[in-house]
Amino acid sequence: MRKKIVAGNWKMNTTLQEGVALAKEVNEALKGAEPKCDVVIAVPFTHLASINAVIDQNKLGLGAENCADHKSGAYTGEVSAPMVASTGATYVILGHSERRQYYGETSEILKEKVALALENKLTPIFCIGEVLEERENGTYNDVVKKQIEEALFNLSAEDFGKIILAYEPVWAIGTGKTATDDQAEDMHAFIRGVIADRYGKEVAENTSILYGGSCKPSNAPQLFAKPDVDGGLIGGASLDAESFMGIVNAF
Ligand code: 13P
Repeated sequence: MRKKIVAGNWKMNTTLQEGVALAKEVNEALKGAEPKCDVVIAVPFTHLASINAVIDQNKLGLGAENCADHKSGAYTGEVSAPMVASTGATYVILGHSERRQYYGETSEILKEKVALALENKLTPIFCIGEVLEERENGTYNDVVKKQIEEALFNLSAEDFGKIILAYEPVWAIGTGKTATDDQAEDMHAFIRGVIADRYGKEVAENTSILYGGSCKPSNAPQLFAKPDVDGGLIGGASLDAESFMGIVNAF
């Protein structure tokens, strides 16, 4: 059975000290709890090693928000997948719309990043999603299908099985405008069909597909009740331990 997962994406927020304090708070909240899902936080590179030292990764998984498309070398300012893995992190968000939009990440680049992440035993949380114009002109299914095909369908079934997908409609990110539970379910079911066509029903049924975009404690229960929504990738609401735990407890 596929996993249910709630993952926080802190984006470019918190100083090291604030981040360590927040991670400790979430870790503490999970101590006695028996959440019905895996819980992960994806944090800035600078925070990874320090946070790894203060959390119990049996309860709270740790991830980076990106990694480089090269293994090592003269790429000033970049952080590689082996570097991320060496901090103790085991997840990495790849292909977030903010990376695609502001840093020119293409499917070709993302293919390299996915390969390096898998080589270094990092679990990619791979983001896909359409912009508002594509939602409005009705091309959203094609757009999302293309994003998956171009960056992931070169993988073997075994490697594809290691990927977590996150559907994040760009128009819902940080806007307070959530996709309705039916819009999310329609897309998630469509994505599962696309995976089934390429890798078969079993792989598709075992793939966790998270929803992201203005997910909050108030709307998470309806979203997570949908059969093809396997959890959430949470931005703003993951920066507060109480609201993040409110979403975790929506399962
Ligand atoms: P918000 O939850 O802030 O809308 O962000 C969603 C997101 O981009 C998570 O990766």
